[in-house]
Amino acid sequence: MVDRRIRRAGNELRHCAGSPPSLLTRLESLACERVRRPALSEPPPPSPSFPINHLRCAPVARRKLIVVSNRGPVTFGRDGDGQRVALRGGGGLTTALRSLVLHHEVRWIASAISAEDRLVAEEASGESIHERARDGSAYRLHLVAHDEQAYDRFYNVFANPTLWFLQHYLWPLAVAPSLDRGLHHAWRDGYVAVNRAFADAVLAELEHEPDATVFFHDYHLYLAPRLVRESRPDTALAHFVHIPWPQPDVWRVLPDEIRRAIHDGLLANDVVGFHTARWRSNFLRGSEDLLGAAVDHGRGTVDHRGREVLVTSHPISVDPHEFDELATSEAVLAAEQRLLARRPEKLLLRVDRTDPSKNIVRGFRAFELYLDAHPEMQERVVMLALLDPSRQEIPEYAEYLGAIQRSARAVNERFERGTWRPIDLQIRDDFAGTVAAYKQFDVLLVNAVFDGLNLVAKEAALVNERDGVLILSENAGVHEELSPWALSVNPFDVAGQADALHRALTLPAEERRTRLVAAADHVRRHDLEAWIEAQLSDFDRKAVRGRRG
Ligand code: ADP
Ligand code: F6P
Repeated sequence: MVDRRIRRAGNELRHCAGSPPSLLTRLESLACERVRRPALSEPPPPSPSFPINHLRCAPVARRKLIVVSNRGPVTFGRDGDGQRVALRGGGGLTTALRSLVLHHEVRWIASAISAEDRLVAEEASGESIHERARDGSAYRLHLVAHDEQAYDRFYNVFANPTLWFLQHYLWPLAVAPSLDRGLHHAWRDGYVAVNRAFADAVLAELEHEPDATVFFHDYHLYLAPRLVRESRPDTALAHFVHIPWPQPDVWRVLPDEIRRAIHDGLLANDVVGFHTARWRSNFLRGSEDLLGAAVDHGRGTVDHRGREVLVTSHPISVDPHEFDELATSEAVLAAEQRLLARRPEKLLLRVDRTDPSKNIVRGFRAFELYLDAHPEMQERVVMLALLDPSRQEIPEYAEYLGAIQRSARAVNERFERGTWRPIDLQIRDDFAGTVAAYKQFDVLLVNAVFDGLNLVAKEAALVNERDGVLILSENAGVHEELSPWALSVNPFDVAGQADALHRALTLPAEERRTRLVAAADHVRRHDLEAWIEAQLSDFDRKAVRGRRG
């Protein structure tokens, strides 16, 4: 991939600047490519501190970034021979952000999650280690080995069953949540403590790179920016929230002290980013309603504690080259062969973590209603559900996995005939199998209750080879971008989803092709590089405004 990109970029550079490509770094060449693609946002005014030049192919300095996220780009384990191996981190955040290290000088701070991660952290004695990305790009990884009890409270009590549930509207408020002493404890001795440990790691990395921009990610780290700001008032801080941001009243479920601390923590950044205009506008309203901050909704700025914070929205994306390469890799081709050997006439697909926000049980119910209404499709169609088991220490997640298995079994027992089982449920982390299925689906169902974005829809559109149709929940962030070419569904309306399955399976061939080509083209033009560019442009805009006072 790298060779191809360097060659392609090198040709452009020869064309554009007459410089010998051998003298240019890969990032410089990529910047040259970037000026040729449609901009996601206005080019920033020239900024002496960040000399990105959008108007000609001048060399671009790699930025120094300190990236901070709970889950890192890799997690360590041991292979069959007992050798240490670096495995791909799970979930959308790491799929997307792993490419950051190809473009910038990155120091990445993440939690030590596996036992092997903790060993790596111990061997590094609180320092960062050298790591290499898939293309050989070097970066530094700082694994923070948290106090285990604090981390358990942070991850298994506050971040996931509380913040994640609140931000995805998953609670039936008549009965949940019940914020008992344990929850207060988990906030104080879990969430606050782990954020403190992250902030300390950031301060340690800033000792090595005092001019770096700190780029926080997601709901695990709402408090860390304020803690860093208190020690380093002039450091450039940005935060990207990868999940939905609900309306202010939803935040009122949390005690006043906690909801204020969350908003105040985020507003210690210079820039706060969301995937969609919808989540961004909820955050602006929350800052106003819950903190009493002065908000300019037109400019998207919040005045808080004497500082102006810029609030933006840019949907994240993936690296299309990575998926092009994956699609023809040995592992994916082998998985595809296995899939083709048992392929039904029509393949419906869903790919998700086993998370209640993904709405898997209602998806099976919709398929059941579809099979009821269309007996002619029985034995001809299969719903393949490739599900990555997620957060199984948390009772709500373990119960949800049980519900998924029960509901798939119920549909199968009702309809199965001979060798045909309508739902093919595969619960495992299998990225190669996932990409193979992306190539082969006729219909992809993404019916999330709420979802910050949903990268599955973008990944699948990129590599599909059967003019597959996307069905998208109107509450998934990706709907804001891809809905012109997808079928939209209300995630609660299972009858509507059954109708959408029928419509998707009967769309004329030409229309299916046009929709898929347009969706894939959109993802290619709005790729991860464009997203990074948009983030940095926001930052430059903010820096220029800051200088103007
Ligand atoms: P989230 O971040 O909530 O997990 P996304 O849809 O944005 O949701 O991202 C999910 C990521 O996890 C995608 O990159 C997808 O390819 C990957 N993934 C989902 N299910 C599986 C699975 N069963 N095996 C391997 N990878 C998976
Ligand atoms: O993008 C949402 C997200 O929660 C990430 O922050 C996270 O890393 C990923 O999904 C997977 O969740 P987890 O890290 O809890 O396995």
